[in-house]
Amino acid sequence: MITQKPMYEGKAKQVFATENPDELMVYFKDDATAFNGEKRGTIDNKGVFNNKISTFFFNLLGKEGIPHHFIKMLSEREMLVKKLAILPVEVVVRNIAAGSLAKRIGWEEGRKLPTAIIELYYKDDELGDPLINDYHIQALGLATPAQVETMEKYALRINEILAAFLKDKKVELIDFKLEFGVHKGEVLLGDEISPDTCRFWDSETGQKLDKDRFRRDLGNVEEAYREVLKRLTGEKS
Ligand code: C5P
Repeated sequence: MITQKPMYEGKAKQVFATENPDELMVYFKDDATAFNGEKRGTIDNKGVFNNKISTFFFNLLGKEGIPHHFIKMLSEREMLVKKLAILPVEVVVRNIAAGSLAKRIGWEEGRKLPTAIIELYYKDDELGDPLINDYHIQALGLATPAQVETMEKYALRINEILAAFLKDKKVELIDFKLEFGVHKGEVLLGDEISPDTCRFWDSETGQKLDKDRFRRDLGNVEEAYREVLKRLTGEKS
């Protein structure tokens, strides 16, 4: 454990500098927020589950040729990553209508979309991460057209890889959010892939195995995160 102050602290993670200027250490906290910070709480052991689940997914995606920032797990809550210049665009991929999309287009949650949908959001807490499109990205100078094309290409490929893998584990991939950044001129997948950033539903029962249990006060939140890790790796904690 590095004992210095974090160089950045987010809602769910702290980021520390390391001796190598090209690398950072990410510490996963148990803090949970929803609705742009309006709802706050903690989920016991969430940091451990999300670190292990993200580690698993980065390794899986790396094997399939998706470049990412993950280097190695350092401890139960700590991950070593490549330092990225984060592109302030959140990329959401959806297979099934849920959450904000269900509200926006007036579809009931759970209705299958005929094709996967990509949405782009401006990563800005003060503005509440508004939905944007390619034109906004160019006007605001958030990313180049080539970077947007790369992010969208990786996002669709990641969707194929994760959805197929999870199907075998009896988990339906409803939607998820990705963040990307630039390292040595190359666009890499960053952040995390976990029940905080994805919607996972049990394929047989439809039970939610993700942060919606916290957002919607459904109970058994820690158990849901534990169940996801168990389905991925067989691990119980
Ligand atoms: O809330 P919404 O339906 O737009 O969320 C779509 C997906 O993106 C969900 O899986 C949610 O967990 C994720 N998301 C996220 N961080 C945000 C917004 C959404 O991880 N700031």
